[in-house]
Order: sequence, then C-alpha cells, then structure tokens
Amino acid sequence: MEPLYEGKAKRLWATDDPNVLRMEFKNDATAFNGEKKAQFEDKGRLNNEISTLVYGMLEREGVPTHFVRRVDETHVDVRKVDIVMVEVIVRNVAAGSFCRRTGVEEGREFGQPIVEFSIKSDELGDPLVNDDYIRELGLATADELTQLRESALKVNGILIGLFRDCGLRLVDFKLEFGRPVDDPGSIVLADEISPDGCRLWDLETGEKMDKDRFRRDLGNVMEAYREVLGRLKAELG
Ligand code: TMP
Repeated sequence: MEPLYEGKAKRLWATDDPNVLRMEFKNDATAFNGEKKAQFEDKGRLNNEISTLVYGMLEREGVPTHFVRRVDETHVDVRKVDIVMVEVIVRNVAAGSFCRRTGVEEGREFGQPIVEFSIKSDELGDPLVNDDYIRELGLATADELTQLRESALKVNGILIGLFRDCGLRLVDFKLEFGRPVDDPGSIVLADEISPDGCRLWDLETGEKMDKDRFRRDLGNVMEAYREVLGRLKAELG
C-alpha cells in the first residue's frame, strides 16, 4: 500500500472511513528546508506521544482539532482536512528567523505575542507574508485569517501554561490548520505539536529542549525530546 502523502517527517494513509486519515510519525528529521537530514531512533514515537498529550489538553480546553484517536506508538487517526497553505507562527521570545530578520538578540521577551504567517511551500522556502498577500493569493479568506489568528493566540495561552508547569519556556511554535472534508466551512488545528515545531527552553537552565539541538548540532537531541515527554507525562498523567 502506498501512502496518500509523504512529507519530511510524516506519512498519511487512507483508512476505511473517507473522512479519517492515519498519520504516521517518521524518525526522519530535517532542517533548513530539507537541506540538513538525519534519522533519530524513537523520534516518531516521542513526537506522537508528545503531540497526543498536547492535543488532548487543547481539546479539553475547547480548541477544535483534527485529532480522532491514537492508534499505536507511531500512528494517530485524524480527520481528513484540506490543509490551509499558511503556516501560523507565534512568538513569545526572540529567536530563530525573528533575530536574523531584525538583529534583535535571542532571548528578548516580547510584551505581547507576535503572530506571523508564511506560505507553506518548500519550493519557496516558506516565505513570510502578510494578510494582504494571503487574500490576494486566495490561501485563506479574511474570516478564516481571523480564526487562525484567534485560535493561534488561544493555543499559545494554553501551551505557555502547560509548558510552564513542566519547567519549560514556550519561546515560539508553528501551527497548521485545515478545513475538514466533512465540514469544509470550519477550521481545525492540524499537523503535530512537538519539539520539531516548537522552541522550548528549560526555565531554570535556559537549555534548548527542541529541534534547535539538531539544527545547531548541540547533541543529545532525542534525550531532550524524551525529557519533554517525561515532564508532560508527569504533568498530564
Ligand atoms: P523560525 O524562527 O525559524 O522562523 O521558526 C519559528 C518556529 O517555527 C520554531 O519553533 C520552529 C518552527 N518551524 C517549523 O515548525 N517549521 C519550519 O519550517 C520553520 C522554518 C519553523
């Protein structure tokens, strides 16, 4: 059987239900738009477990998501969605491309979260865009954009608290959204939430506990992911 879709870190498979897909977490890691590649044993399981715990919390807090059920160590079932081709990034602390773009030093805490949008396109390298670009390109309606922004800020508030309780500072993260095929007028959170797409710093030591360990060759990449999972499990059971 062939997957319906294969991305850099996940595969999507059909199920018996036309409205549900099975999402597989791979052990592959990439950075810098796929230029840097590696495989980490156990990464798929760790990200699946982390993402499942986080999605459970978001669902309990009333955030609509694609999550249906966890299947096994590396698979979850999710609602089939038409992915909105806009990545939504929320930043609480200066890091990564924000610092490169602005010259601001890493670690500056923002007075208010920053929401930014980029086009989801490997060919273009996920360029930063604004609302007017998105409207002109037809990637989302004005109403959908409002929903993306509001949902992203709500998720940020929930995750800041969750990770704080785990002794982690939520620096920034990327979200994706989709229109469920069985309810295309609505928008749900889709994709994973894991240290692949979040920056998490230890609250006490400042140590990076996310994919920057791979991007910057800091070592102990899976040890950090395992620690994040351990703390989430201790917090959420
Ligand atoms: P950035 O500082 O490189 O723009 O990244 C901001 C956040 O978004 C960071 O937590 C990592 C995440 N991210 C992804 O999940 N996928 C991507 O392709 C990029 C560039 C960033």
